Amino acid sequence: MMPIDSASARRVADTYDTAEARTERERTLELLDPRAGEQILVVGTGPGHLLDEVARAVGPGATGVDPDPVMVTLARRRCGTRAVVTQRALAGPGSLPGGPYDAVACLQVLEFLDDLPAAVAELYRVLRPGGRLLVLDTDWTSLHWPGPGQDRHRRIRDAWCTTVPRSRLPYELGPLLQRAGFGGEWTRRMPMRGPASTGYGAALREMVADAAPGRCGLTRADVDVWASGVAFCGDEPFSVDRWFLGAVRP
Ligand SMILES: C[S@@+](CC[C@H](N)C(=O)[O-])C[C@H]1O[C@@H](n2cnc3c(N)ncnc32)[C@H](O)[C@@H]1O
Repeated sequence: MMPIDSASARRVADTYDTAEARTERERTLELLDPRAGEQILVVGTGPGHLLDEVARAVGPGATGVDPDPVMVTLARRRCGTRAVVTQRALAGPGSLPGGPYDAVACLQVLEFLDDLPAAVAELYRVLRPGGRLLVLDTDWTSLHWPGPGQDRHRRIRDAWCTTVPRSRLPYELGPLLQRAGFGGEWTRRMPMRGPASTGYGAALREMVADAAPGRCGLTRADVDVWASGVAFCGDEPFSVDRWFLGAVRP
């Protein structure tokens, strides 16, 4: 899911205009609750859709970081002068700019990182006391595709999960947040569901089909048969469980 070249970065970017992504963003904004005058940091802006909406709510205090140059360009283009976007990666101490922030949003980033305790400590560091953290990550093991051949679906899902360092992060993150000093943790499941052959489902199917060959014993031909089988299912839904996790720096 992480962009590795400019074509895949742009393909990830296109998924943000789908109905599924818009619904998820509306829910994100409700939970983040950005208020006028707040300083808010979006970690891993992607193409900047959420950052732009945060900036419109808070005024001049919106900041975003992303290590990917294509994403930074897209986010800057989308946000214009409303937000500051810097090419930076969340990692260990001092990796994030500025602060202290009233809130930090870190959506679908932590599941891709190797040193999670260091990243969580850095999120804690940049928040003010009382500041809010909002995280969203995916339980990729819950990924379901329509159509016959459950064994092939399972192999494809297993292959995709090998591309994500922490494919079940939502179940691991709570204790990590507590160890970093956060309090008031809460979680909320946000199932993502939509037609498998259009919108987000189609984009995800293409990303999975690109990544799966050579993993879990799958050949390109196996994956092509799977992808055309899913495409043939038309409006039948794919689904995957995302989880919001929130916490406060005491
Ligand atoms: C799956 S996209 C999610 C984008 C956005 N956060 C969202 O959920 O809408 C992952 C994004 O995280 C960025 N990213 C990858 N490693 C990162 C890191 N260490 N710190 C911050 N962002 C990172 C990628 O470049 C990409 O834009």
